[in-house]
Amino acid sequence: MNISIKSPSDIAQMKIAGQLAADVLDMITPFVKPGISTGELDDICYDFITKEQKAIPANVGYKGYEKTICSSINQVICHGIPSPNKILKDGDILNIDVTVIKDGWHGDTSKMFLVGKCQPHNERLVKITQECLYKAIEIVKPGVTLGDIGHVIQSHAEKNYYSVVEDYCGHGIGKIYHEEPQVMHFGRPNTGIELKEGMCFTIEPMINQGSKYTKLLGDGWTVETKDGRNSAQWEHTLAVTSSGVDVLTKRSEESL
Ligand code: MF3
Ligand code: CO
Ligand code: CO
Repeated sequence: MNISIKSPSDIAQMKIAGQLAADVLDMITPFVKPGISTGELDDICYDFITKEQKAIPANVGYKGYEKTICSSINQVICHGIPSPNKILKDGDILNIDVTVIKDGWHGDTSKMFLVGKCQPHNERLVKITQECLYKAIEIVKPGVTLGDIGHVIQSHAEKNYYSVVEDYCGHGIGKIYHEEPQVMHFGRPNTGIELKEGMCFTIEPMINQGSKYTKLLGDGWTVETKDGRNSAQWEHTLAVTSSGVDVLTKRSEESL
């Protein structure tokens, strides 16, 4: 294991990148309505990042991915590819995941959108998944383990009769998009790596209404639930501080 420790000035730079990523989610929110395509949403985000923020959309060219955002609708767990053919409809739940690079540093974040009027069971999935992320963030401080983080998420999900996706995880982040450690969203207390001041990583739980099993579509990116039931995800980039956590991708609507 070689987990990089960031200095206060590194973290200050990551916060700049993180805030730009958060700003993209705030900017795109009013556009997320029935009738718009995920391809259009992607174009708007690309233009905003490159022209307004003068930053780099990290997903473009990442392992051959061609778009700025991942747009994952309903049974899509993650890495849904934006397309002019994918048009949002009333009742959809959508995750938009975006990563911005500024001065070499990454900020990675995602949020869920309720498109139009959604069914209560979908609203509940979205809310509980956000609670999973928030409960995990709340315990982050030096000395806590990655197993503790996974356990908090898994307990809250399972208490609500949901399952936790195990095939994808959070990750260390910095000058490199995906670095060590892997941050599982399930686990046992007091196991795994101990957090230290200066570690930066994402927590990004994917929570399913049905079973935890996933399937990768033929496009090589889109990950769906095996049983076709819906999935939700929320993501933040975090820094471990001396006494707790700094949520680098916090949006202004959030009290973290
Ligand atoms: N942003 C995703 C994550 O949370 C990774 C997307 S990679 C892409 O780690 F290539 F699909 F964009
Ligand atoms: Co991530
Ligand atoms: Co992400």
